[in-house]
Amino acid sequence: MSVLVLGGAGYIGSHAVYQLIDKGESVVIVDNLETGQRKAVHPEAHFYEGDVRDIYFLRSVFQKEQIDDVIHFAANSLVGESMKHPLKYFDNNVHGTQVLLQVMIEYGVKNIVFSSTAAVYGEPESVPITEEMPTVPTSTYGETKLIMEKLIKRTDEAHGINYVSLRYFNVAGARETGDIGEDHRPETHLVPIILQTALGQRSHITIFGGDYDTPDGTCIRDYVHVEDLIDAHLLALDYLRHGGKSNVFNLGSNQGFSVKEMIDAARTVTGREIPANIGDRRAGDPSILIAGSSKAKRVLGWKPSRTSVAKIIEDAWKWHSSHPNGYGKGE
Ligand code: UFG
Repeated sequence: MSVLVLGGAGYIGSHAVYQLIDKGESVVIVDNLETGQRKAVHPEAHFYEGDVRDIYFLRSVFQKEQIDDVIHFAANSLVGESMKHPLKYFDNNVHGTQVLLQVMIEYGVKNIVFSSTAAVYGEPESVPITEEMPTVPTSTYGETKLIMEKLIKRTDEAHGINYVSLRYFNVAGARETGDIGEDHRPETHLVPIILQTALGQRSHITIFGGDYDTPDGTCIRDYVHVEDLIDAHLLALDYLRHGGKSNVFNLGSNQGFSVKEMIDAARTVTGREIPANIGDRRAGDPSILIAGSSKAKRVLGWKPSRTSVAKIIEDAWKWHSSHPNGYGKGE
């Protein structure tokens, strides 16, 4: 009886594995280590290095292990890169999910919790964004995640695969112990870049655009603590195990913070200066993204308890200041 975590060596996947093992679950990880880190793999998980698109490899894992449920994080997830290399995204994200579903059907595995994104909504007509709003992705990344959702839905209709799609807003923070955290290469995300600047690893942070139609002119995002986000995955797994119907949920905090507010919050938490300059806008950035997450609270009983900007930055700072080079060079 194991949970298969695809992408379990990545930032969000590794936090899921740690929480599953804390709860006494047996965990199998599949990760090709393209963006995942070997050192983020929990020592008690059964780790298989390989690619989700490799059907022979994936079958061999399902053959060896007793897989009951799947949590699927394995995907490329950079908006900018997806615009330059769309086929890489269709291949890894969409084709990878097709192969995974095929093998799940072959082995009679029914439950999947799927890592989706707010990028499926594109530029929203209004905020907060609720699950019923139109999905019009502006990036190839968002498009592939929406197609992955549809693939899973159609497979459910034909083969009775039960799914929960979780649409993440801006995930940040780290496990409270500081053992694991965010380490992307190259790093593009706001909170780690702010904290690398606080550590003196960057001379300054460039704020992408100061002329948005927001109170201080910088983009507003909805930040959710990675550990709260993973709580929702565990609740979703429980929901499916107890016969819950296939469903889609937003995961955010219902609150927006501007880039400037995030930098100010980090100055308070770290006591460091954090020089910041205003630069050009980044292509594809919507001005405001705020989640309506009441459905996840109502249906799954999700109670985010760590999702304040101060707590997110404190926990991220614990990780970055104790691991200034992230996981190091790797193995
Ligand atoms: N930003 C800066 N300077 C930087 C980095 C980021 O000003 O050096 C700004 C961005 O312009 C944006 C905000 O900080 O306004 C957050 O940027 P991130 O790159 O951290 O996150 P995104 O909002 O672009 O994207 C995140 C996830 C995506 C997901 C999206 C959904 O990384 O995978 O949320 O909303 F699709």
